[in-house]
Amino acid sequence: MSDHVTTHQAQEDARNESLLIYVDGEMKPRAKAMVSVYDSGFMLGDGVWEGLRLYDGRWAFVDEHLDRLFEAAKAIDLDIGMTRDQVFAALEQTCAANDMHTDVHARLMVTRGVKRLPFQHPSLSVSGPTMVIIMEHSKPKAPRPIRLATVPHQRGLPMTQDPKLNSHSKLNCILACIAAEKAGADEALMLDVHGFVNTTNACNFFIVRKGQVWTSTGDYCMNGITRQKVIDLCRANDIEVFERNYSLVDTYGADEAFLTGTFGAQSPVSEIDGRVIGSGQLGPVTERIRGLYKALIQQETAK
Ligand SMILES: Cc1ncc(COP(=O)(O)O)c(C=O)c1O
Repeated sequence: MSDHVTTHQAQEDARNESLLIYVDGEMKPRAKAMVSVYDSGFMLGDGVWEGLRLYDGRWAFVDEHLDRLFEAAKAIDLDIGMTRDQVFAALEQTCAANDMHTDVHARLMVTRGVKRLPFQHPSLSVSGPTMVIIMEHSKPKAPRPIRLATVPHQRGLPMTQDPKLNSHSKLNCILACIAAEKAGADEALMLDVHGFVNTTNACNFFIVRKGQVWTSTGDYCMNGITRQKVIDLCRANDIEVFERNYSLVDTYGADEAFLTGTFGAQSPVSEIDGRVIGSGQLGPVTERIRGLYKALIQQETAK
């Protein structure tokens, strides 16, 4: 059996076979939840999305997620056609339709909608946006820490595909992930244009050296909400944290490394390019940050 692990692995849950999916305001059974083959998202990857989690009946950091969604939509000149309150109501509608309360992951997607002709020009998208919300029962499972391999692929640059866009087109990240998998790892570690350590293909990346927490400057990676929460938690709890340039030498020599993302919170990294990082297991600083993050979620959901 393959020993393959991803950063987005959830425990099997039979309830996910019979989900109701939000498609443009209607709740559709999973097997019948479809978009047109002319949809801009399907045809061109022309859309933006957010991944959110529900804990104890509350969407964690929902304001930050909605800010990022609306900012991305504005940047790609896509009119969501709904207010923030309406988008939030669509999340709540999907949640209620599926009778969901906690340990839920939502992928909220908005595309430029159905096209008149199968070509690129945005003016050919004539239907208005398509919105889909897939909401799953989702308890992350981590059979072991993640193994990374460095790959030649980079996340987009601000003047190509801005790395701060949660774009439907993930091809460069998918190619990075494929390269890492072929190198025997689980996910890809991507460098920035200068060769400094940047991000993984699906999560933000941190190292711990002598009790200090380092992450990239943020210029070339996703403006991850979990990344920012970890930085804020470090600052609030006297853990030295730096957003800085650092190289693979610093990284291989780190005491700990971990990934951040809404799905997995903080996931320990065991190995990078065949070098064991620290003990190869969840380290004490990562464990402390995980505890602080868990407490923050509890605070957030108790509001
Ligand atoms: C490339 C990439 N990096 C990082 C993240 C993590 O971001 P967040 O912490 O907001 O989930 C994501 C998730 O959307 C991502 O796609």
